[in-house]
Amino acid sequence: MSTPEPSAPHPASAPLGAPDVDAIARLANALFSALPNGAVPEPGAALGSAPLFAVEPLLNAIPGTPPLTPSLKPNHNPGSASPIPTIGAARPSAPVFALDPKLAAEPPHPAAAPLDLTVPLEATPVALPSASAPAVQPAFARETDLAALPGRLGEVRSFVPPDVAGGGPFGANAAAAAAPLYFLADNPLARPTPVAAPSLAPREAFDLAGLAAQHRPEVHVLDLSGTRPFDAHLFKRDFPILQETVNGRPLVWLDNGATTQKPRCVIDRLVQFYTHENSNIHRAAHTLAARSTDAYEAARDKVRGFINAPSVKDIVFVRGATEAINLVAQAWGRRNVGEGDEIVVSHLEHHANIVPWQQLAAETGARLRVAPVDDHGQILLDEYEKLLGPKTRIVAFTQVSNALGTVTPVAEMTALAHRAGAKVLVDGAQGICHLPVDVQALDVDFYAFSGHKMFAPTGIGVLYGKADVLEAMPPWQGGGNMIADVTFEKTVFQGPPDRFEAGTGNIADAVGLGAAIDYLSRIGMANIAAHEHELLAYGTEQLLTVPGLKLIGTARDKAGILSFGLDGCRSEDVGKALDREGIAVRAGHHCAQPILRRFGLETTVRPSLALYNTHDDIDALVDALRRLQTGRGVKWG
Ligand code: ALA
Repeated sequence: MSTPEPSAPHPASAPLGAPDVDAIARLANALFSALPNGAVPEPGAALGSAPLFAVEPLLNAIPGTPPLTPSLKPNHNPGSASPIPTIGAARPSAPVFALDPKLAAEPPHPAAAPLDLTVPLEATPVALPSASAPAVQPAFARETDLAALPGRLGEVRSFVPPDVAGGGPFGANAAAAAAPLYFLADNPLARPTPVAAPSLAPREAFDLAGLAAQHRPEVHVLDLSGTRPFDAHLFKRDFPILQETVNGRPLVWLDNGATTQKPRCVIDRLVQFYTHENSNIHRAAHTLAARSTDAYEAARDKVRGFINAPSVKDIVFVRGATEAINLVAQAWGRRNVGEGDEIVVSHLEHHANIVPWQQLAAETGARLRVAPVDDHGQILLDEYEKLLGPKTRIVAFTQVSNALGTVTPVAEMTALAHRAGAKVLVDGAQGICHLPVDVQALDVDFYAFSGHKMFAPTGIGVLYGKADVLEAMPPWQGGGNMIADVTFEKTVFQGPPDRFEAGTGNIADAVGLGAAIDYLSRIGMANIAAHEHELLAYGTEQLLTVPGLKLIGTARDKAGILSFGLDGCRSEDVGKALDREGIAVRAGHHCAQPILRRFGLETTVRPSLALYNTHDDIDALVDALRRLQTGRGVKWG
């Protein structure tokens, strides 16, 4: 593992004000002591991501706190004769970049000083589920005896998908079928025909009790790098939208695989940016350009630290994971993949990690090969290894399956691919918010992810690439920002990352991504992983108590996703029925049709977890599903 490049101050623009961490801590303590009963300050409290000038008046109000007056100091522009003023203390950890866009030197990235926003942490084990949790039953082996559950299909029978040619709730055309709200009594389309049981025959009977058990042990928060005690109820308060009611019920957001909600500190950071910093970046010799460039490049450095990339030059801002993969497929692929070459993906992939490679293969005459999975949804490593050879140019696979939750053995698969001389791209869209990620330890060549799945805004994402690989890649789009010099005869391109960021990027949302990273870092990714792991185990156990429920995806190593089918029910209808209870899940094909079809399905219901989900959320889901299946009190459609 290489160490980060030395963080020499930018020659032209060393930060002008050092963060006064002690003062912030004093402020935090003062805020805490002013709150009743140990209550915690309003969400997101996030002093760590709040610009210092925003909290400064408060700081100044604390007796004994030295004043931190933002000072206008000259910031010499090497390309200009005139010194340009910029605010130093306003952004204590951010270098001032605006006047030298070329990243001639790395920005300083001081080691994150943990802000003690709460009491000192003890090693706090996450509470395990209650001992009274019902015994786990084997999933595929367990077929519900419908006759033994009189009435359970009472309301299920009351809706009939009128035009589902594929038959049954998971039939081939189910996803495409129109899905109006159905009630037998008032829907003339419906007929009192029982819905056929779905064809979820077991491929392999295995002991699901073993599966649940393997999620259970050693669930303790061991990594106390976070500065807040782990309390999902508390974190939930950080997210304003989670205080919403939907259909008269408190919102239970279990659609985190599709997108996560945004904490107050991220929302506030966007407001802050547009209120005080908005400008285009890298281009102008004025104060707001300095502020916005500082904020944007500081966010890039936060990303670097979050995934342990060696350099900010390895971090390319893109629209999201999809754009990152397309960038590699086109810019790297067109130069490195030719006729007869092979591209390997896995059966687990999201369409975003299939289609760009298919397009590249069609364009170049290369061949797409697919690493298969077993009946639990785990990659068959022996079969994967057999696919690798001298023709393999790149292997692209997901870190966490968005449809099944399978965590793939990234380091092992990467080492095998490298042994064959292939490059590796990992789709981290579903991994980045569940697991600590260290791109150097994983040794991947590319790692792609989206901000919106990690509590940041939509429309911003990241492509990490190894320095030598990015350096050798041509640009994929041309325009401003990515050039060093343009004449009508030729253009000289910038180096990475600018070479891959043509045009005006999503500046504000990159800054928002930085705030989300601050938020996650304060909690600690290891703590988040431990909490979600425990919740996944609890959710697995509890879901299996629902009559007729079959889990799809039972890998030993799973994260964040609980995909299932319900006997006799269409996924879409389950989703709608849950919505009436205020519970948001995704129901459909999850943009991963090949893997669902591997299990004989077109759709599943997919609750997906995040750090703010609680046992109560799982209980609400399971309670609603049980009432659905027993026909008690939950309306279909
Ligand atoms: N890829 C996102 C999902 O899995 C949208 O739901």
